[in-house]
Amino acid sequence: MNLILPKIIQLPKFLDSRGNLSFVEQLNHIPFVIRRTYWLYDVPGGECRGGHAYRENQEFIVALSGSFDVVIDDGLEKKIFTLNRSYYGLYVPQGLWREMENFSTNSLAMVLSSTEYDIDDYIRDYDEFLILKKDGKI
Ligand code: TYD
Repeated sequence: MNLILPKIIQLPKFLDSRGNLSFVEQLNHIPFVIRRTYWLYDVPGGECRGGHAYRENQEFIVALSGSFDVVIDDGLEKKIFTLNRSYYGLYVPQGLWREMENFSTNSLAMVLSSTEYDIDDYIRDYDEFLILKKDGKI
């Protein structure tokens, strides 16, 4: 895996009979400044999202509702992280291939990103990803 590894980060959790509360702070719970937030919803059963790598962008992915799997691939091995609670998330460093799959009905995936949307930051071709990885360019 990368020098910087993907990892599950637990978030603060305030259990309350009125309803529970969690939160996330940039540079405190996650190691980057948040430049963008997007979310995936109404994902039909069996669909896959993602399927690319970023040169620069780092992410923190939380299952705000329901569950899904995030498959992380460093070019040598794959790891599957199942997200199914809103009080933890997966930190994904740059330079890793990642796919999201097995979305449950009504799941809601929130993604905090370290960069604004930039089409040129995407690597969408898996073979190109493997070459860049092998050459140490990402
Ligand atoms: P994309 O990242 O390609 O999703 P996936 O890899 O799961 O297919 O995004 C899908 C579309 O949404 C794409 O046309 C670009 C647009 N988009 C934005 O405009 N801003 C964003 O922050 C994101 C994540 C996507």
